[in-house]
Amino acid sequence: MKKNGSFLKTAFTKLLFGVHVVVVRCLQWGDTGKGKIVDALMFWADIIVRGTGGDNAGHTIVNNGKKTILHIIPSGIMGDSEGKITIIGPGTVIYPKALTDEMLNLRRQGLSYDNLKISKDAKLILPTHIFEDRIKELSNGKGKIGTTGKGIGPAYADHYARIGLTMNDILNENVFRKKLERHLLHKTHLMDYPLDKAEEVMHCEHLMNGKFYDAHELFAFDEIVYQYVNLFGKALKPYIEDTNFLIRDALRRKRNILIEGAQGDLLSVDYGTYPFVTSSDSSLEGLVKGCGLRTEHVGLDLGIIKGFMETRVGSGTFPTEMGGGLSAEHCATYTKEQEKVMYPDVSVNSEDDLKAGIALRKVAQEYGVTTGRPRRIGYLDLPLLRHSMSRASAKTRLVLTKLDILGDVKTIKVCTHYKYHGDRYFDGKREYSEGSFVMTPPMDHYFLSYCEPVYEEFPGWSEDITKIRDYKDLPQELKDILDFIVENVGAKNQPAIVSVGPDREETIVL
Ligand code: IMP
Ligand code: MG
Repeated sequence: MKKNGSFLKTAFTKLLFGVHVVVVRCLQWGDTGKGKIVDALMFWADIIVRGTGGDNAGHTIVNNGKKTILHIIPSGIMGDSEGKITIIGPGTVIYPKALTDEMLNLRRQGLSYDNLKISKDAKLILPTHIFEDRIKELSNGKGKIGTTGKGIGPAYADHYARIGLTMNDILNENVFRKKLERHLLHKTHLMDYPLDKAEEVMHCEHLMNGKFYDAHELFAFDEIVYQYVNLFGKALKPYIEDTNFLIRDALRRKRNILIEGAQGDLLSVDYGTYPFVTSSDSSLEGLVKGCGLRTEHVGLDLGIIKGFMETRVGSGTFPTEMGGGLSAEHCATYTKEQEKVMYPDVSVNSEDDLKAGIALRKVAQEYGVTTGRPRRIGYLDLPLLRHSMSRASAKTRLVLTKLDILGDVKTIKVCTHYKYHGDRYFDGKREYSEGSFVMTPPMDHYFLSYCEPVYEEFPGWSEDITKIRDYKDLPQELKDILDFIVENVGAKNQPAIVSVGPDREETIVL
């Protein structure tokens, strides 16, 4: 990590004035570049905390030319050597193997995590959860969610079903044994899966190549206890604590707290495109609660969208997807390498939407960090953004990232509303029928799958914007689109940050 230039400190002075809690989160389906914004704010933060999700998230950090990939540890860990505290909060789910692997990886790269704190109340991901996640996805066929296979959904489900365990349990062998016994008693339905499939799933690398497998009981009780308590428990003990206490204390002492979001608003189990969502509430409310805070503590809520485009990994409705169903299928079938061979020369200005999307994905390097899957790519969708912004507060400010990607795109399309083509549909307030205009859609996957996006076209820009540091110097074409978005989604303020390149300094703060 380069030392923070004074440029950013100066640029952020006004925005951060009098603020002690900042949220950095995504207003789309994740992967909007939270890492870069967190990194840009590191000079300000004393504490960086994550409140939801698990190792389903993925962020790539480039540090002195070395690439570090993190899943469960917040990217704020890069400030560890400067004494910044990084917290994995009580609302998260943790697979100890994934966490210890990541710690090992950091150490190998010469990076420290001395000030890492893990909430004792974070939910524990057990082998049962990973097994359940993977075997369900195998059998779900067309209805599959396209999860990351990390056991996230089952772990949260079991928390609500009151048969979950927490990180604190791996510090107490007797408690762990009793709770695991009770947990397994409730999971006997997992034994109904065909033996050959079950065995195969249990022998994946993520499940330690069959370590947790027992041919009769499916789960090897003693081995789970041994690994979780004696190995992971011992290794993680120095880091596990009551982080709620820590965060309340920090609040009282007016330390600067940076909340690092995971996933995105549209992936929230409560507010997203259900059922194609993750299993935690990755909206502002869920995030803040999962850190041990309340929304009224938040002084600045930075909601990120990708500059004039959108991506999603996994299945689920995506009304503005470039190439529609063909793209969804393509992304579910082919890898990054196969795509390169199949489409060596495609243009972002291709008449064929599928090809233009593939070209854009290549320029933007939109491939999943956690799964390596090509991310589905589409046009900016204002109806969905309106939905996110309808729950925003006066503290919410938009952040646009990756705008440099669109440099060669001649015409930029923005979806302003949908035309509905399904059966009569009542959403509690409005009735929709064939041809209805949809401005702010109900978050129902079935409804959304009958929506046809209507676009407004804007001319693109051709100048290199990466050197621009002042908003007024941005191309007029770009500012016109920005104004249009702000006006059309009911944003109460101007955007806070416009990112014009991957580097920390390639940032415009308004
Ligand atoms: P799960 O979180 O593994 O249960 O996956 C549910 C859905 O959320 C899938 O479509 C995933 O691709 C998506 N998802 C989960 N985490 C992320 C993320 O960090 N970025 C983008 N998509 C994610
Ligand atoms: Mg990501």
